Amino acid sequence: MNSSDQQVPFRRTVVSYVQRGERMTVGQQRAWDRHWAELGSDVTELPEGPLDVQSWFGRSAPVVLEIGSGMGETTAQLVAAQPDVNYLAVEVYKPGLAQLMLRAEKLEVSNLRLLRGDAIVLLRDHVEPESLDEVRIYFPDPWPKKRHHKRRLVQPESVALITSRLRPGGVLHLATDWENYAEQMREVCEAEPGLRNRYADEPGGWAPRPDWRPVTKFENRAHDEGREIHDLIYERP
Ligand SMILES: C[S@@+](CC[C@H](N)C(=O)[O-])C[C@H]1O[C@@H](n2cnc3c(N)ncnc32)[C@H](O)[C@@H]1O
Repeated sequence: MNSSDQQVPFRRTVVSYVQRGERMTVGQQRAWDRHWAELGSDVTELPEGPLDVQSWFGRSAPVVLEIGSGMGETTAQLVAAQPDVNYLAVEVYKPGLAQLMLRAEKLEVSNLRLLRGDAIVLLRDHVEPESLDEVRIYFPDPWPKKRHHKRRLVQPESVALITSRLRPGGVLHLATDWENYAEQMREVCEAEPGLRNRYADEPGGWAPRPDWRPVTKFENRAHDEGREIHDLIYERP
């Protein structure tokens, strides 16, 4: 290990995503061509150091980072419902980001910026400590096979990294439909000294389902297949 490696707080050996194809529909491609230069950036193309979020949005406002926005179904609705926040979505899947821009265009929102790439690299290299008001991770890839659990996004190291980027009072909100992943999330967050469960007094420490979190196709499928959804809401004291 050389000296620059030692300065990196989190080095990844596996990633939490699979690289999917980049083929886009005509509508997605057009949305990409119209909006990406203004609204998006590749994580690998960001200038070295912290991202100047307030300048990018052109205003100072609370910052929410959603990791893994997928096809943007939930994200677009939440962005529209919270015009007073600067909403950052990070996702590796290009057609998903394009679809999110299409949805955002229809909803005429102006408080969304998109980042394409690995959220861990973004948080580690381009997000200032204590700068985020909220981090959301909804229905992350479950990696159900035991030998793949190491690929899950929610791990002690990633949660420590996320916590370090939250402001005091900032929130980490997680939701999943995989019982075993929900338990892992809870175990990891309970063991993170920088976090406190806002719903510690609720049975199991699970948060009541917030009625403002839109019901997605993942959630509907989970219901259909008899899986329960768990929300977890932690804050940095
Ligand atoms: C199962 S999907 C859920 C999408 C969305 N949150 C929803 O509820 O519909 C998980 C998404 O997380 C993305 N993802 C996984 N690991 C990521 C990472 N490290 N950085 C950015 N995106 C990631 C995947 O590409 C995938 O689109």
